[in-house]
Amino acid sequence: MGSRIVATGRALPRTAVSNQELQRFMDTSDEWIKSRTGIGTRYTLRSGESLAEIATAASRTAIDRAGIKATDLDAIIVGTVSSEYTFPSFACQIQTQLGVDSIPAFDVAAACSGFVYALSVADTSMRAGDFRRVLVVGADALSTFVDWTDRRTAVLFGDGAGAAVLVSEPGTRGVLASLLRSSGRHWELLSCRATGVRGTLDSEVRRESEDAIKMKGPELFKIAVKSMEEVCRQVAKRAGIELDDVSLVVGHQANRRIINAVAERLGVAFEKVFINVDRYGNTSAASVPIALDEAIEQGRVHDGDLVMLNACGGGLTWGANLLRW
Ligand code: UT7
Repeated sequence: MGSRIVATGRALPRTAVSNQELQRFMDTSDEWIKSRTGIGTRYTLRSGESLAEIATAASRTAIDRAGIKATDLDAIIVGTVSSEYTFPSFACQIQTQLGVDSIPAFDVAAACSGFVYALSVADTSMRAGDFRRVLVVGADALSTFVDWTDRRTAVLFGDGAGAAVLVSEPGTRGVLASLLRSSGRHWELLSCRATGVRGTLDSEVRRESEDAIKMKGPELFKIAVKSMEEVCRQVAKRAGIELDDVSLVVGHQANRRIINAVAERLGVAFEKVFINVDRYGNTSAASVPIALDEAIEQGRVHDGDLVMLNACGGGLTWGANLLRW
């Protein structure tokens, strides 16, 4: 018995922020941001909004499209590092907003790799026979943790949520293989000391200095490309498939140059690579499920296709899931 994604959904905060708007209060330019990252705009969470509500909206879409009720779920697993509170978990908040009770709901903290990690955990539990229907969510609001005076990080991040409903199923479709990796010794390449989005958002003081996201971009860039190339090769090997047979790569949307470099090293044609970083920026754990949801909506995913998901983020963490659609 394996697991298969039967439906997805996504939801975003109300406010879109363009590069031109950032230019007004930061020493940056649309030209720099686009040429170095591919980002044109991103959505940012504002005071009065709730990431839990946004994640619940994405979840409801996935649940409705799956043709089930929230009460049919056996578990909720959320990849996030933006829980509104230090505790309860973000998954418990989504659970209560969905009107579900008594099923396990828990978070997986793997930063930008959160969804890839959560999907792997869900698949493994379903193979063990623990659950039959699982909601997997990726949700983050890293814009609430940036130092808005630090142009090296502030232009990169956007907020949002994506969700997928997995059902356990016999047969050859679904999650074929997953691989997860971490390297704690590189933690200082990307970190954030602050916790609890609710506290950050409701505070009048925007995050500055020590609490804000810290990133060593150029070092991280090199490791991200190498790690994602390696894990994609390894997961393909584990699943017993050739990379040439992959129909679509839906990778973490941190930087268009990273996505293209990984594809080039893998020898995957650019038309097989899904990119939407231009419209959302880096939404951390939400980026893979948002991209997958859009790829499905745009008719880029067909029955029988091999779809590769991959991500790399703070921890460092990285990983990949190979799916037969
Ligand atoms: O989500 C987890 C995974 N995330 C990643 O893997 C991110 C990996 N890193 C990156 O994507 C890139 O390193 C960045 C987009 C963060 C930065 O791009 P870069 O080409 O590596 O730029 P850099 O940091 O080497 O900076 C080059 C120049 C510097 O100026 P000087 O020192 O050469 O005069 C920066 O100060 O660009 C400057 N710069 C900017 N200029 C205008 C940095 N940020 C900006 C900015 N606007 N926003």
